[in-house]
Amino acid sequence: MQRPLIIALDLDDVAKRRALLDQFNGESLFVKVGMELFYREGRQVIHELKESGHQIFLDLKLHDIPNTVQRTMRELASLDIDIVNVHAAGGKKMMSAARDGLEQGTKAGGKRPILIAVTQLTSTDEETMQSELLINQQLNEVVRTYASFAQESGVDGVVCSAKEVPLIQDSCGTSFYTVCPGIRRKEDVVGDQKRVVTPEEARELGSWGIVVGRSITTAEHPLKVYQEMKQDWEG
Ligand code: C5P
Repeated sequence: MQRPLIIALDLDDVAKRRALLDQFNGESLFVKVGMELFYREGRQVIHELKESGHQIFLDLKLHDIPNTVQRTMRELASLDIDIVNVHAAGGKKMMSAARDGLEQGTKAGGKRPILIAVTQLTSTDEETMQSELLINQQLNEVVRTYASFAQESGVDGVVCSAKEVPLIQDSCGTSFYTVCPGIRRKEDVVGDQKRVVTPEEARELGSWGIVVGRSITTAEHPLKVYQEMKQDWEG
């Protein structure tokens, strides 16, 4: 799989989603289906996107008891998605249950979806993590340790800030996937993200993939912004 620029389809109705994708003139994209879209349109949206030739990161960030996560992953694996994720905060048992579920649900001869784990959301900074999640450690150490736990549990990679990629690769190696949201061009509005980098910086930091939402989805000319960001990303 080529190192992807994944477009987060965080749009609040079907017509807007279709209108956005129509602007890409049939180009095969890598898209992220998040909770908003999946809870609204369900499995149908996955079938529709697959039929249009897109690859899919299903970003549902599962976090529940191991048995529930395993059974849910078994269900999701039947959807022919490419990447799916869990919260590493669910613990090692939950993460390995997720992997087991994906293996059980992948059709014979089919490709198991890549499983990644969220370490800390890119909207969480160290102050919030310490004062509200009551994790009394440095953010970098939490991210590094959660990534190692994920790897030990059979998870293929993590969702992380691009700034954390060198530290994660230091512990988990360069073949461990790093999928990085919190991407902005210099001129973009940062919004609720706290740890942002440009596509070029993400490449230099060694990210495997980047996730871009509002910079593209709210742009006046989404295709133009996508092409520019892709060029910066690919170098
Ligand atoms: O609009 P923006 O580029 O900030 O969108 C980033 C996307 O990546 C959103 O869909 C958000 O839910 C997702 N994400 C994130 N941080 C994580 C995991 C996922 O921002 N750690």
